[in-house]
Amino acid sequence: MPRRLPPRLLLGALPLLLVTVAAVAPQRTTMDGVYTAAQAAAGRDLFASACQSCHTPTVHAGPPFKAKWYGRDLGELFGYLRAEMPKSDPGSLSDEEYVQSIAYLLRINGMPAGATALAADSAALATIRLDSLRSPAPRSR
Ligand code: HEC
Repeated sequence: MPRRLPPRLLLGALPLLLVTVAAVAPQRTTMDGVYTAAQAAAGRDLFASACQSCHTPTVHAGPPFKAKWYGRDLGELFGYLRAEMPKSDPGSLSDEEYVQSIAYLLRINGMPAGATALAADSAALATIRLDSLRSPAPRSR
């Protein structure tokens, strides 16, 4: 019979265990179908009425959007939009509407819709990385 490990030793191993769990826990990306088609459609209408007077959707698609936002998480984009947009009246939309604009921005950047709606919750949004790769992301591009 092997001797039981002293409790102190087990406690010492706990941080290591937590680090391992964090590394293994899947981080979703925007390629995993994180918003619904209905949200993106609502976002399109919203964009036309609240955002388009200053920038066309094409400003937010393709290389400029990619350069600025890929690799960051949706929590950051949500925070940015809430704090800064619409430039003329920041924070004037509801959280749900900001999330709809995000869904629309994802769609025009070629990211797929899915079955589950994107939640207007900063903590949940922060677990989704903006990327053109599905999770788990391959190591090399
Ligand atoms: C009154 C003009 C105006 C309106 C309305 C407006 N924006 Fe902007 N937006 C700007 C300006 C100017 C910038 C450039 C960044 C800055 O100066 O802070 C910008 C930047 C952005 C960016 C970052 C661009 C990038 O580099 O990728 C996003 C995303 C964005 N706006 C989304 C929105 C959304 C969504 C709405 C509607 C809810 C909106 N904007 C409404 C003027 C506006």
